[in-house]
Amino acid sequence: MAMSEKKEKETVTKTDPEDVLELHDLKSWFYTEKGIVKAVDGVNLRIPKGKIVGLVGESGCGKSMTARSIMGLLKFPGRIAGGSILFDGKDLAKLGEKELRSICGKDISMVFQEPMTSLNPVLKVGRQVSETLLVHNPEIGREEARKRVVDMFGKVGIPEPEKRYDSYPHELSGGLRQRVCIAMAMICRPKLLIADEPTTALDVTIEAQILKLMQQLCAESGTSILIITHNLGVVAEICDEVYVMYAGRIVEQADTFELFDHVEHPYTKGLMASIPRIGKNPERLYTIPGVVPNLLHLPQGCAFCTRCPCATEQCRTEKPVLTEIREGHWSACFLNQAKSE
Ligand SMILES: Nc1ncnc2c1ncn2[C@@H]1O[C@H](COP(=O)(O)OP(=O)(O)OP(=O)(O)O)[C@@H](O)[C@H]1O
Ligand SMILES: [Mg+2]
Repeated sequence: MAMSEKKEKETVTKTDPEDVLELHDLKSWFYTEKGIVKAVDGVNLRIPKGKIVGLVGESGCGKSMTARSIMGLLKFPGRIAGGSILFDGKDLAKLGEKELRSICGKDISMVFQEPMTSLNPVLKVGRQVSETLLVHNPEIGREEARKRVVDMFGKVGIPEPEKRYDSYPHELSGGLRQRVCIAMAMICRPKLLIADEPTTALDVTIEAQILKLMQQLCAESGTSILIITHNLGVVAEICDEVYVMYAGRIVEQADTFELFDHVEHPYTKGLMASIPRIGKNPERLYTIPGVVPNLLHLPQGCAFCTRCPCATEQCRTEKPVLTEIREGHWSACFLNQAKSE
């Protein structure tokens, strides 16, 4: 493929009708006293209807800020500095607080990493979920809301849902609280569920159950999921598409099979090599050398060049753009791009 024929992500502006959400060149920056922290710096991402999309990368690379930008939850001094968030014919980046709130919660909902932060400690969990339902569907009334919540509690695998309806958050285990949060996120049958490290605080058995549950619920109601994780095992398990993020940018993107079969970007290769595998000596587990660069002082060229075993002079001086190196497989790496020419 000649360089001139390559489609460059930055120039794509059309909305595919099959996508529930599209991020175009999204920039979410923090205007700090020390300078501008570009937590999300030109991210393009598409979530097709009914699909599960994974966003992976090391701590601090901008995953949560991407999610928070969609929900309009960036905290000061952060704000959307550019780009668009296309959802249902609207650009969420340009909506006012009131309109955004009516979409977020009903059509888009989010499960946070720590379930306690999204539950009110002094309200019974059933009441909290039914309030969410009633805010968006006041016509159904309290009795019907209670019935639907109990039914949803049963679906997310909460034992004795009738009884648990009247429990306070502190009376439930971490796994049960996370189930309540999933019930709350799913109760309005959202078009998009954003799950930010939804299982990190849980043990592996419960993690597997919760992932399966989200997958089932989404299949039943046609909900799309954006799942944020640093765990490539989770990605392999449930995602259709994967976006790999590094220092505020997407560095590789492909469908899950393609990515695991033909990983191309040196950063993703490093992430893959650091997955523990049975039979391998854990003491010899690979770790990517160096540390994530400070977002205030990024290298002039590729943000990964200081840690990359293959970096060249070009990598140190020029920024690689996310480019399609094979059908449906995108990488922001000069070496990958040169190979595909
Ligand atoms: N209030 C703030 N002021 C300045 N910079 C911030 C602020 N909040 C976040 N950031 C920057 O945003 C970057 C991205 O943060 P984000 O929470 O999105 O990372 P993450 O990929 O979700 O990491 P983790 O896996 O640890 O959750 C951080 O590296 C940090 O530099
Ligand atoms: Mg995060």
